[in-house]
Amino acid sequence: MAEWVTLCASSELPPGSREVFGVGGSWIAVFNVDNVIYAIEDLCTHDGNTLAFDQQERPSKLINFEIECPRHGGRFDIRDGSATRSPAEINTPWYKTRIDQDRIQILL
Ligand code: FES
Repeated sequence: MAEWVTLCASSELPPGSREVFGVGGSWIAVFNVDNVIYAIEDLCTHDGNTLAFDQQERPSKLINFEIECPRHGGRFDIRDGSATRSPAEINTPWYKTRIDQDRIQILL
């Protein structure tokens, strides 16, 4: 059964920031774009790279709503996980989000 899981306080993810959380055996990348929260799996479906940060923990490029994989440049729409640029062809999972009593939550 799906349930809302708290990730952090909303103050911990201000506009323009991102964070990766380990939840239920997955790594989930969470973005705050203009006070709207988006969450996708932190997994590039092309070859398993992380999406939100590169190997040196530097933020990956976020172009409008597309996160660019730091390895080969595939892109995913953070609003729905859809693969938007080759070599990424397969969508990555996305999650519903909400802010409840100043807590950021995702639906698992
Ligand atoms: S691992 Fe992400 S585009 Fe290749």
